[in-house]
Amino acid sequence: MVKIVIQKRIKDFNKVINVDGDKSLSIRSLLIGSQAYGISKIKNLPKSEDILSTINGLRKLGINIFFKKKICYLNGNGLNGFNYKKNIVIDAGNSGTFARLLLGLLVKSPYTVKIIGDKSLSRRDFQRIVDPLEKFGAKFVSKSKKNLPLKIIGSEYLSPINYFEKKGSAQCKSSVILAALNTPGKTIVTAKKSRNHTELFLKNLNFPLKVISKKKYDKIEVVGENQFKSFDYTIPGDMSSSAFFIALTLLSKNSKLKIKNVNVNASRTGFINIINKMGAKVKFINKRNICGEPVADICVKSQKNLKSINCPIKYNSNAIDEFLIIFLLASKAYGVSNFKKLEELNKKESPRLKLASLMLRKIGVTVKSNEDSIKIYGNPRLNINKKILINRYYKDHRVFMTSVIAALTLGGNWTIHDMESHMSSFPSFLSILRKIGYRFI
Ligand code: S3P
Repeated sequence: MVKIVIQKRIKDFNKVINVDGDKSLSIRSLLIGSQAYGISKIKNLPKSEDILSTINGLRKLGINIFFKKKICYLNGNGLNGFNYKKNIVIDAGNSGTFARLLLGLLVKSPYTVKIIGDKSLSRRDFQRIVDPLEKFGAKFVSKSKKNLPLKIIGSEYLSPINYFEKKGSAQCKSSVILAALNTPGKTIVTAKKSRNHTELFLKNLNFPLKVISKKKYDKIEVVGENQFKSFDYTIPGDMSSSAFFIALTLLSKNSKLKIKNVNVNASRTGFINIINKMGAKVKFINKRNICGEPVADICVKSQKNLKSINCPIKYNSNAIDEFLIIFLLASKAYGVSNFKKLEELNKKESPRLKLASLMLRKIGVTVKSNEDSIKIYGNPRLNINKKILINRYYKDHRVFMTSVIAALTLGGNWTIHDMESHMSSFPSFLSILRKIGYRFI
């Protein structure tokens, strides 16, 4: 367990940075590449732990993956083209996205595959994936089907399903879409709006996937057993990682930041919508399309006068990974902010809604919360001048990074544990802080 000590605020800065490649797109490019026919080429793949778990897992399933001059090459054997021994064990580490999406690809697996994960992933709900995958015809042979470890054995006789995804979970939606790739006939997914990377990825490969967009739901039709070819893909920067540096800039005094080449897919920019409503004035410039996804450079300046928000629930799914940092911004805003219907937040790498209340109270913010909502009494003069210890927060990478941003902007004498946790999603986090000018003790 490694800790970091922060006793000084960050000095004013004016910089241009790049953040690591997007986690959701990286995992999808590897998993979809494993089903393509031929060698795919993936640029800007981050070396984060979740991505390494994905690479190691796919290698165990017989996919040849190698790197040349920082570019990832992946040799897909086509649909259901995994080639592996009986009774293999795949360790998904901390990655819910990898574990849940991979299970979708294993619905036709001829042998049992056991999926395990770290302590945090082993606590998370897998029933949400088991239920639809069983309907396709896959079988799960484990004591509990709710949590990892899970053993899956596929079926040769899969049938397409009609699936209603009501939580706004892109992992559930994507797992079913990937299962449908290996299933004959038409699978229909009616899904509450959530990040749509899997759909855009397959469409960009000319895969026959149809999306009918309604106000709150998308109807997605997938005709299975359609082989697609290998591809070249460039991973853009991660909006969820950018969020920490956007918040750092907003909360610092006379500072300015440009973050280059970030994925600005509307299903990921709930964070920007929310903070702009709070008075942030974040801008996207140089907007373009790369491999079917919108990409832009993000410009942000310090903002002394953030105001509170009554957060519209339509943004919840599109900002789901950014709420800890949004709550921090609300703590420094003028007025009382309200966030509702956030029960999914307690089902992440840690129970984030519960932990947010604990963390904010610790730094002197008044908070009222229950199991799905939080009210934050913002204080623009919030200024910490005591010792703050952050430990026992489930080694959640986003708790660690949010705490560092709080320490660098609010003052106080902080000791933050579980520094290694940021490696799961954003390995360059601390080196970018150094580039911006912070000198760690
Ligand atoms: C993800 C979906 C979200 C998000 C996670 C990545 C994805 O999870 O929290 O970090 O890549 O599909 P849910 O689908 O559980 O909401």
